[in-house]
Amino acid sequence: MATIGIFYGSNTGNTESAAKRIAAALGDQAAEPTSIADTSADELSGYSALIFGASTWGVGDMQDDWDDNLSMVTSVDFSDKKVAIFGLGDQEGYPDTFVDAIGVLANIVRNGGGAVVGQVSTDGYEFDESQAVEGDVFLGLPLDEDNESDRTDKRIEAWTATLKNDLN
Ligand SMILES: Cc1cc2nc3c(=O)[nH]c(=O)nc-3n(C[C@H](O)[C@H](O)[C@H](O)COP(=O)(O)O)c2cc1C
Repeated sequence: MATIGIFYGSNTGNTESAAKRIAAALGDQAAEPTSIADTSADELSGYSALIFGASTWGVGDMQDDWDDNLSMVTSVDFSDKKVAIFGLGDQEGYPDTFVDAIGVLANIVRNGGGAVVGQVSTDGYEFDESQAVEGDVFLGLPLDEDNESDRTDKRIEAWTATLKNDLN
């Protein structure tokens, strides 16, 4: 039975594609990825384990569907929940706001009492600043389809292997 809800927002399809690859890597545990535009606070509340995926737009702005639904997401009580976050970004084009959306979502989850799991070392990424960084880790998994699409599958494989423990 699917016990992990996966919700994403995607403007050009990169985050949606990553959500599907993450779901496939998790197998039966994962629900079919759903756009954050097509869900509700009640549906999110039904999962004790969640994965959120968001790209960053503008200069450090949330992807549009997340932006439109931030008050709905903020209304969720995350206190009994573990949430893993992934973010699509462009570290060469936007080195000062790389995957900022991960940081925004992590704040929402933590402010709602939830635990953010699935942190990833900053080693191997080239950027200057990011709201997604705490110490020497990202608060979720950054994926860069603009510059490093060849690394996405391996990054997803390593991350989902840790989530099988971290989200339980
Ligand atoms: C106009 C524009 C602004 C962007 N701003 C950022 C940004 O501030 N930070 C970042 O990491 N990536 C930024 N990106 C890169 C996108 O997040 C990246 O292309 C991502 O893969 C898009 O995912 P999506 O198709 O799921 O929305 C930007 C891209 C464009 C075209």
